[in-house]
Amino acid sequence: MASGVTRFSVSVPPTLLKEFDDVIKIIGYDRSKAIQQAMRNFLNEYKWKYDEKGLAVGAIVLIYDHEVRGLEEGLTDIQHHYKDLIQSSIHIHLDEKNCLLQVVVKGEVLNIQRLAKELMNKRGVKQIKLVTLSY
Ligand code: NI
Repeated sequence: MASGVTRFSVSVPPTLLKEFDDVIKIIGYDRSKAIQQAMRNFLNEYKWKYDEKGLAVGAIVLIYDHEVRGLEEGLTDIQHHYKDLIQSSIHIHLDEKNCLLQVVVKGEVLNIQRLAKELMNKRGVKQIKLVTLSY
């Protein structure tokens, strides 16, 4: 692997750059550091989509309607099925109707993807986010 750094230039709309600069200023990053991190995040996300091999750690976060009949049992059944993959899970009651479930996973990317799909496909699951990091 080549050492040092490579310079390159990119073209972006001025409003995007302004927004970007404002945010990185707040968190104390310079442009190079922020772009590097954005590129790594992009690669992680991209790998998730095409590369179904290898190990990953991550979290699946979802919001669901706990009043949907059978949903909580269904979500629990799925988690039991993937007990070797799931390291931890947190359930938060958001309001009268909505619950948040966060499942922390570690294992084969393919299995994480399968688990996420199964959770996602349950009726009453409103929103789901997957975060994976490779190591
Ligand atoms: Ni709840």
